Amino acid sequence: MAGYVVVGTQWGDEGKGKIIDVLAEKADVIIRYQGGNNAGHTVVINDEKFILHLIPSGILNGNGDCIIGPGVVVDPKVLLEEIELLESKGINTEKLYVSDRAHLIMPYHITIDEVKEDLRGKNKIGTTKRGIGPAYGDKISRIGMRVGDLLELDYFKDRLYENVKEKNMFFEKVYGVNSLDFEEIFEEYKGYASQLKDRIIDNIPIVNDALDENKMVLFEGAQATMLDINYGTYPYVTSSSPTSAGAPVGTGAAPTRIDKIIGVMKAYTTRVGAGPFPSELDDEMGEKLRKTGGEYGATTGRPRRCGWFDGVVGRYSVIINGLTDIVLTKIDVLSGLDTIKIATGYEIDGKVYKTVPASLGKIEKAVPVYEELNGWAEDISKIKSYDALPENAKKYIAKIEEVVGAKISMVSVGPNRDQNIFIR
Ligand code: GTP
Repeated sequence: MAGYVVVGTQWGDEGKGKIIDVLAEKADVIIRYQGGNNAGHTVVINDEKFILHLIPSGILNGNGDCIIGPGVVVDPKVLLEEIELLESKGINTEKLYVSDRAHLIMPYHITIDEVKEDLRGKNKIGTTKRGIGPAYGDKISRIGMRVGDLLELDYFKDRLYENVKEKNMFFEKVYGVNSLDFEEIFEEYKGYASQLKDRIIDNIPIVNDALDENKMVLFEGAQATMLDINYGTYPYVTSSSPTSAGAPVGTGAAPTRIDKIIGVMKAYTTRVGAGPFPSELDDEMGEKLRKTGGEYGATTGRPRRCGWFDGVVGRYSVIINGLTDIVLTKIDVLSGLDTIKIATGYEIDGKVYKTVPASLGKIEKAVPVYEELNGWAEDISKIKSYDALPENAKKYIAKIEEVVGAKISMVSVGPNRDQNIFIR
């Protein structure tokens, strides 16, 4: 037992929610390390669907402490609504905590997010307009408001006053939106402070003591590698570091405390919103993957862009995250295809790339180099052992391992908790 990181290896929606839920059963502490309520983890339990945006999906299984870590940005209104929703469905949230170092999303962050995305015109980056980017912006500019500030209201009030003064210099004159009312925001957040105060903690001793005692700590990532602020397809990325390196930064557990880095990898590729996607299928096959895989946004219902498995992204992800294990998800969706393709390289201006280049211009020009494999007809969603898989499904799994350069430890063949095949 020790530190396990769960990270998305593609553009998100790989099924991290389900995998975290499965691992959470044995975890003593589950801590989310980045992002905000822009995530949309879907967990299906006994055919009931739970969609969690902010609260770690580990809350649904087991009995561990569930922490929203220092690297997360928290909208307290959304947090309270999510707690209420879970409680109404009979989920106990008594052990849900928020780090005092996490940053707060303020109402002006949401306004700025909306205004700036609209100003981008045709260059929209596809933000969820929930204030995540502007909240991280204020954090880096050292004017952010932290969750722990809610426990020191005089300090909170002073900082809020300065922030509102600064924002109002832009709101009416530059952005053309109404000025902020300082008193109104203060009163609103004072209310959140009284409702959340017992959940606000210093997570550093909790996480590190658990690791010292050899307990299992699950570091829960949201979004994914290709959306990482440093290593993703910038600027079509999120404002934080979903990669495994984000786990120590976003939780206060040192990198040496991490023993396993589990990459969740979908057996094909999807992407939401704008940005390059070399193996995208803009045809009937893409539509088939979308329909069979239910590839529609968990929150917005927006259709996801679909394509063949991108081994270049996979390999890049193995390298960037230092994956010790891969969980391959949604391979059941590929049942019934005559042939299946895997992109093993990108051909760009006559040169073959084996990892993702930085230049968006280059990625946009990339022509995938495909290998074609034979498919399988059988429904595999009820299979429980590797040996029982069709030979061609085994070959597909082996090919992915070969192309990306890491081992697949588990294969997920359906959305439910028990639809898993453990390989090693
Ligand atoms: P983000 O953090 O927003 O990237 O979400 P996520 O990685 O948790 O993925 P999300 O839950 O949005 O999408 C995965 C969807 O696939 C959910 O509806 C899951 O219930 C479903 N799912 C997960 N694993 C499998 C699987 O192996 N097979 C099938 N058919 N569906 C799965």
